[in-house]
Amino acid sequence: MSTQSISMERHRFGPTQRDVPVIGQGTWYIESGDRAAAIAALRLGLDLGMTHVDAAEMYGSGAAEEIVGEAIAERRDAIFLVSKVLPEHASRSGTIAACEDSLARLGTDRLDCYLLHWRGAYPLEETFAGFDQLERAGKILAWGVSNFDVPDLEDARDVAGERRIACNQVLYHLEERAIEDAVLPWCERHGVAVVGYAPFGHGRFPGPHTRGGRVLQEIAAAHKATPRLVALRFLVRRASLFTIPKASTPEHAAENAGAGELRLSDAELARIDAAFPCGPRAHGSCRCCRPRPCTGLSSTGSTTMRRRRPASPVSTFSW
Ligand SMILES: NC(=O)c1ccc[n+]([C@@H]2O[C@H](COP(=O)([O-])OP(=O)(O)OC[C@H]3O[C@@H](n4cnc5c(N)ncnc54)[C@H](OP(=O)(O)O)[C@@H]3O)[C@@H](O)[C@H]2O)c1
Repeated sequence: MSTQSISMERHRFGPTQRDVPVIGQGTWYIESGDRAAAIAALRLGLDLGMTHVDAAEMYGSGAAEEIVGEAIAERRDAIFLVSKVLPEHASRSGTIAACEDSLARLGTDRLDCYLLHWRGAYPLEETFAGFDQLERAGKILAWGVSNFDVPDLEDARDVAGERRIACNQVLYHLEERAIEDAVLPWCERHGVAVVGYAPFGHGRFPGPHTRGGRVLQEIAAAHKATPRLVALRFLVRRASLFTIPKASTPEHAAENAGAGELRLSDAELARIDAAFPCGPRAHGSCRCCRPRPCTGLSSTGSTTMRRRRPASPVSTFSW
């Protein structure tokens, strides 16, 4: 398999002074298959420039972090390493303890960014005080949130102040573009990076016989690329956007890395936008459709992760 270097595009990551690859690597369920293949996939992904690695204490109850730790051993400095604290651990002292545990599993002394996985019962003041303490100790270089809708972001900004939240990690794929309504604009106004997760719909990618799938195929053929690469490229079309596909085989990792150097024309982006209407509200009613056609970067129905999440997400459906 070729490990020829890819000219991976980078974007400035929110208020940090870091330029981070637009295509990163997710690790949810990475522990559930062949361990050697998962490590090989992550390492090949790193070789190909996907050095933004997303982990969480929740994934495999720490097993995913251990795999990441093995994959990044001896190349830590080249990586933008992210992990997440579970809401039920997110008191001030619990956040610090959870981070220490993640660091041990990852085999490192610092995270580049540490996220609150989703908003829970602990006041944000508590969690952010934990983040501050970790930051002062050099154990995290930045921190952010995940699954925050605009009211949550407003609360977080009120607690932390401007330009403190590095990123908001949120669901974002071609068939789920609700963040374009309000979350993405809010983050762009406030300099918060937007990391889209589940870019392939958590394994439910548009098939070749769907209208959208055909559009992706046609555009892919014009670039000697694949529909998945075209989708990834669309999902990072703005300077605020990043994406973190998960691959557990080197073949998948190699394919995904190719999106880092793919470029689509405005006309191609517009075709994809039209093929995947931007949300539950009927296309044409969103703000962006007035007075001109939707560019895919404005209003849709504001669906929030928080509202859709089951009451007990960890024990029922794991995020
Ligand atoms: N903050 C949050 O609440 C949250 C929630 C969900 C996810 N995330 C993060 O986002 C990451 C990505 O989301 P996800 O894992 O849910 O779903 P995803 O990346 O949308 O989809 C992963 C699925 O796509 C397959 N795949 C990957 N590359 C492929 C390729 N080139 N060709 C064919 N199939 C391919 C994978 O198969 P293989 O495994 O066989 O390669 C896997 O079945 C997670 O791993 C996690 O790090 C965060």
